[in-house]
Amino acid sequence: MLQFMLKLSASEVHIWYVFSERSTSPETLRSYEDLLSMDEKKRRDSFAFVTGKYEYLVARALLRTTLSRYAEIDPRSWIFAQNAYGRPEVAEPAVLPRLMFNISHCQGLVACAVVVDREIGIDVEDIGRNQQPLDIAVSCFSESEVNDLRSLPPSLRDRRFFEYWTLKESYIKARGLGFALPLKEFSFDLDPAHPVRISFSPRISDDPKSWQFELTALSPRFQMALAVRKAQGPDLSIITREAPALI
Ligand SMILES: CC(C)(COP(=O)(O)OP(=O)(O)OC[C@H]1O[C@@H](n2cnc3c(N)ncnc32)[C@H](O)[C@@H]1OP(=O)(O)O)[C@@H](O)C(=O)NCCC(=O)NCCS
Repeated sequence: MLQFMLKLSASEVHIWYVFSERSTSPETLRSYEDLLSMDEKKRRDSFAFVTGKYEYLVARALLRTTLSRYAEIDPRSWIFAQNAYGRPEVAEPAVLPRLMFNISHCQGLVACAVVVDREIGIDVEDIGRNQQPLDIAVSCFSESEVNDLRSLPPSLRDRRFFEYWTLKESYIKARGLGFALPLKEFSFDLDPAHPVRISFSPRISDDPKSWQFELTALSPRFQMALAVRKAQGPDLSIITREAPALI
C-alpha cells in the first residue's frame, strides 16, 4: 500500500496518468482487483470486451490510490456516490478539505485529476482513432470551431479536432451535467496568443472568466484536456505526472 501523504494546496490541480497498456502482469492486475468494491467488480464484469474490463480496472485502481495519496485512507475504503448524471464523487469517508476528482480513460491511457473543492473535468482521447473530424464537428461543434477546422490543412485537422473534442468533454464533465449541456452552445477559442478561452451562447448560464483550461499532448497518440472552475485572481497551478506503480 502507498505510505506517503502528498499536499494538495487550494491553488493546485494534480493530474495523474497511466499508460495502461504497460501494466499488464497478472499479479499487478490481481492487486488492482483487490482494491475494488463489490459494485465495481460487478461493473467491471459487465463489460463485453476484455479491453473495456481492463481499462475500467486500471481506472478504479488509479482513482483509489490517487485519492489515498492525499488522505490517510486505505484505497479500498473510499465509497463513491453518483450525481443525477452519473458523475462519481467521494461519499465517504468525509475528508476535509473536500477532495474533488474526475477520471477519463481510453484504450491505452487512464487519467485522474484531483483538486480541493472545485468543479473539475478531464478528458483523454486517442487521436489515432478513426474519425471523420469534419462530419462530427458539424453536428457537435460551434460555428467558429467548425470554421477553424475547415481552415486547416488535413494534416493539422485531426490534432485540432481532438483539442476541441477533449476541451468540450472536459467542460461538460466539470459541470457534471452530461448532454444536458448542448455542445454547440459553448465555444473554444484556441488562438495561441492567449490561454484557452470559452464563450457561451445565452442558452448557457455560466461565466467564461471563472474557468481555466489546459491542453496537453501526452504523446503523439494521446490528447488530454482539463477544465477547472477557478476563483478570481491568478490561475491555478496544474501539475501533471505519470503515476508510478499504483500498488
Ligand atoms: C461522462 C461523459 C460526458 C464522457 O464520457 P467518455 O468521454 O465516454 O468517457 P471518459 O473516459 O472521458 O469518462 C468516463 C468517466 O467520467 C466519469 N463520469 C461519468 N458521468 C459523468 C458526468 N456526468 N460528469 C462527469 N464525469 C462523469 C466516470 O468516472 C466515468 O468513468 P467510469 O464509468 O469508469 O466510472 C459521457 O457521459 C458521455 O456521454 N460522453 C460522450 C460525449 C460526446 O460524445 N461528446 C462529444 C464531444 S464533442
